[in-house]
Amino acid sequence: MYRDVSSCNSYNYGDATYWDARYVQEAEMGNFDWYQRYSALRPFVRKYLPSFSSRILMVGCGNALMSEDMVKDGYEDIVNIDISSVAIEMMRRKYQYIPQLKYMQMDVRDMSFFPDKSFDSVIDKGTLDSLMCGTDAPISAAQMLGEVSRLLKPGGIYMLITYGDPNVRMPHLNRPAYNWQIILYIIPRPGFQKANGSSSPMRSPLEPAPLTDKGLLPASFVMEDPDSHFIYVCRKMDNLSSVLPYPLNSDLL
Ligand SMILES: C[S@@+](CC[C@H](N)C(=O)[O-])C[C@H]1O[C@@H](n2cnc3c(N)ncnc32)[C@H](O)[C@@H]1O
Repeated sequence: MYRDVSSCNSYNYGDATYWDARYVQEAEMGNFDWYQRYSALRPFVRKYLPSFSSRILMVGCGNALMSEDMVKDGYEDIVNIDISSVAIEMMRRKYQYIPQLKYMQMDVRDMSFFPDKSFDSVIDKGTLDSLMCGTDAPISAAQMLGEVSRLLKPGGIYMLITYGDPNVRMPHLNRPAYNWQIILYIIPRPGFQKANGSSSPMRSPLEPAPLTDKGLLPASFVMEDPDSHFIYVCRKMDNLSSVLPYPLNSDLL
């Protein structure tokens, strides 16, 4: 029901072999960041991860520059994982002399290598999206998010950067078992220009988007860029008695 195929160009995005082949093919082209660069995400990262000594897990890091840029900004401890051994080998070689960056080949659906509550933050730019394009998407998403929840310390932050709007992402994120308090931001694609003649003032992307009590955007909400990106900031509440922001959906799997 919640398999989000609206922006899947390829059903293979969930396969390690697809990604390995792609990283081999694109090796000459150098690093590539999907969706957004760190410069655009920095205000959100700095706001929700104020301490440079935070232990951060970058899931599905690919060959993006995001982690390198975060280290240049001052972050001291970023563990990067990806299912593609090609991407991981490439990145491990490139950053062998940068002790703040570690690279490990791992499936985000099974991160049993790490003990519970071992990270202050998990950052995901495009990886849940990839799983949502694969086979068994809802099961893969639940396995991944269950693992993310397990690895977060109480108060920890899962930051999801995605093309998926709340209709297709909230049903996966707002499960009581995770106990996440969710704030949503909406940012335009890089290079987006307002239509000529549009007089409406652009909302500040730094302002949280309004959400209904079901965790959706109000019907009246207008996105100036219809292909905006969404940043879900999910804070793991430290006890189950805290107020749950959105109701349970029992029909997820
Ligand atoms: C859309 S790319 C995003 C890469 C990078 N985060 C960025 O922002 O440019 C998705 C990445 O997720 C990785 N991936 C896909 N399925 C995965 C899984 N089950 N476990 C870990 N990584 C996975 C892919 O190898 C790919 O590098």
